[in-house]
Amino acid sequence: MGKYVIAGNWKMNKTPAEATALIEAIKPLVADAACDVVVGVPYIDIPAALEATKGSNIGVAAQNCYWEKSGAFTGEIAADMLREMGVGYVILGHSERRTYFGDTDATVAKRVRGALDAGLTVILCVGEYLEQREQDITAEVVAMQVKIALEGVSEEELSRVIIAYEPVWAIGTGKTATAEQANEVCAQIRGVLAGLYNEAAAKAVTIQYGGSMNAANAAELLAMSDVDGGLIGGASLKAPDFATIVAAAK
Ligand code: PGA
Repeated sequence: MGKYVIAGNWKMNKTPAEATALIEAIKPLVADAACDVVVGVPYIDIPAALEATKGSNIGVAAQNCYWEKSGAFTGEIAADMLREMGVGYVILGHSERRTYFGDTDATVAKRVRGALDAGLTVILCVGEYLEQREQDITAEVVAMQVKIALEGVSEEELSRVIIAYEPVWAIGTGKTATAEQANEVCAQIRGVLAGLYNEAAAKAVTIQYGGSMNAANAAELLAMSDVDGGLIGGASLKAPDFATIVAAAK
């Protein structure tokens, strides 16, 4: 895994046929990328995405997974199932999962465990709500989310963890954190990792920024010292915009 990772989070967008078309459009535009490129697609689009990305430099991510290996869990998808298909990554703890679907720091930690055990690379999302930023507790909130999610994760396993700092107030709102705000929290996260592991391990972790990152602001955000990539929602659905962001990640 390279240090810089640009991942699209398609959320609940694109049918399988549309997924194929979007990946075919993205593929030539990112073929020379200097960073790792990932598309996070709906479960149902995974076979199409794996087929379309075959032989390319684009990895495929799921947007969630369950922590049990199998059993009576109607509607859930196990990490092993994703892995067997050839999925390399899974986005976990996204704020939309936390806000609308009851994910908590404790359940995110279980999903991280399940995903790492299955051999997946985790894109772990953390970030504060607007009220928490206004209360000046962003650092505490994000530190707690990171610590709980990584409980029991070894230093060796940490090499398969990407952290996405996504301030909830910046997601899908068009309100991007300033490059300084993004970098400050990404650096705080690296400090938490240094405390949990060590400086070298912390330095090696890819820490992305996410939240209204787009073709116009990506270069400034990605130039910051502790921002090692992006988790891109809206702008990942437009091939030229996504490619511009990928090109900005050097
Ligand atoms: P956005 O979404 O780029 O549309 O703000 C980012 C995300 O939710 O990962």
